[in-house]
Amino acid sequence: MINALRGMRDIISPDSEKYTYFIENCSKIAKNYGFEFIATPVLEETSLFKRSVGESSDIVGKEMYQFIDKGENDVCLRPEGTAGIVRSFIQNKMDRAGIVKRFFYYGAMFRYERPQKGRLRQFHQFGVESFGVSDVREDAAVILMLSEMLQFFGIKTILKLNSLGCPKCMPSYRSKLVKFLDTAEGLCEDCQRRKNLNPIRVLDCKSENCQRLLTNAPLLIEALCDECKNDFESLKSILSKFDINYEIDPKLVRGLDYYSKTAFEFVSSDIGAQSSVAGGGRYDRLVEFLGGKATPAVGFAIGVERLLELVKMPENAKSGVYVGALNKESEELVFTLATKLRKKVKTSFEYASKNFAKHLNNADKMGAKYFICVGENELKSSEVIVKNLETKEEQKCALSDLGEFKW
Ligand code: HAM
Repeated sequence: MINALRGMRDIISPDSEKYTYFIENCSKIAKNYGFEFIATPVLEETSLFKRSVGESSDIVGKEMYQFIDKGENDVCLRPEGTAGIVRSFIQNKMDRAGIVKRFFYYGAMFRYERPQKGRLRQFHQFGVESFGVSDVREDAAVILMLSEMLQFFGIKTILKLNSLGCPKCMPSYRSKLVKFLDTAEGLCEDCQRRKNLNPIRVLDCKSENCQRLLTNAPLLIEALCDECKNDFESLKSILSKFDINYEIDPKLVRGLDYYSKTAFEFVSSDIGAQSSVAGGGRYDRLVEFLGGKATPAVGFAIGVERLLELVKMPENAKSGVYVGALNKESEELVFTLATKLRKKVKTSFEYASKNFAKHLNNADKMGAKYFICVGENELKSSEVIVKNLETKEEQKCALSDLGEFKW
């Protein structure tokens, strides 16, 4: 027997219903905020992720599904969505046009991690990316959108917020931090590597020993330049105005290297150790870094599998119509009838004839609202009874009039 690969899962009913319910409603909310759908390839050049997600990240360091394809290209299954969208933004010359572009996307991402609850090797994200707006109100708008999505599904989370500064305040802070880290003896192997590549990544190390060594580490939030400080204050006050609770987490640096200024994560205490359900932030330098014209940008991604654990589906209302044949002679008419009805209304039917009770049972299982059976009498009279399974009302209808029936 061949099984799915470790850390990879099928999405089957009832999860598949939850999945489409989730994507449909997030898409609706994103459209209300002026975002449009974008889809980019799952496979990209490896260098795209090395340059954007960053060499110091675990993703690039350890988790890439990377291989050489038949044309000798070094390629990689996308570990996240932002880099591909930035590539597309530049490739399609949207940076040159100097316009504001807002995208939403969803799909599979791949990270070769050690699988555990809430951590898969193939998982799905729903994300948004906004290009061309440096105003901090855009950061606030994407956070408001994300909390609206979480609220829609009745999910309780905590918003963790930080500012990662900009090229004005970050370099001097980084040297201060490196000086401090040089005095901290006993940092784990990962932190030793991060110290040289991207020292701020040391701050959110999960090791208790490293966290103990970092107790008195200097914090960027205390060393922000005036612009970053003002933006951070404005962001906090907008969030408060709209009743979004947040916690400042000065050690939140995120696992990807492209962020500056706003960084945030929504965490849930109901899904175990992998508690981050969504994360994002501002990445004003990435477009330029990947060869485009400097363009400010901000976005987030939701981890769909982690969130689906928390989503409760609304009680399914009955919908559509069920058609059944009571005898062999009616089977052809039922097929024709159902094919016609399907142009107007969700229609389920059975090819094989069976008795009334069995059809009724099927209709009930399928959640149909209306029920029609065709047998000897109906064939003769060219009339059927349409039964509303919710109200139990019955209505006679000529076969020729079924197209006009108000379902
Ligand atoms: P990220 O924090 O790496 O950010 O991923 C976003 C979300 O994806 C996480 O909060 C988590 O819920 C989910 N996730 C990550 N790894 C796994 C996994 N192995 N298994 C299941 N779920 C996982 C990004 O990917 C950025 N591109 C977000 C962003 C968009 N920033 C700006 N724009």
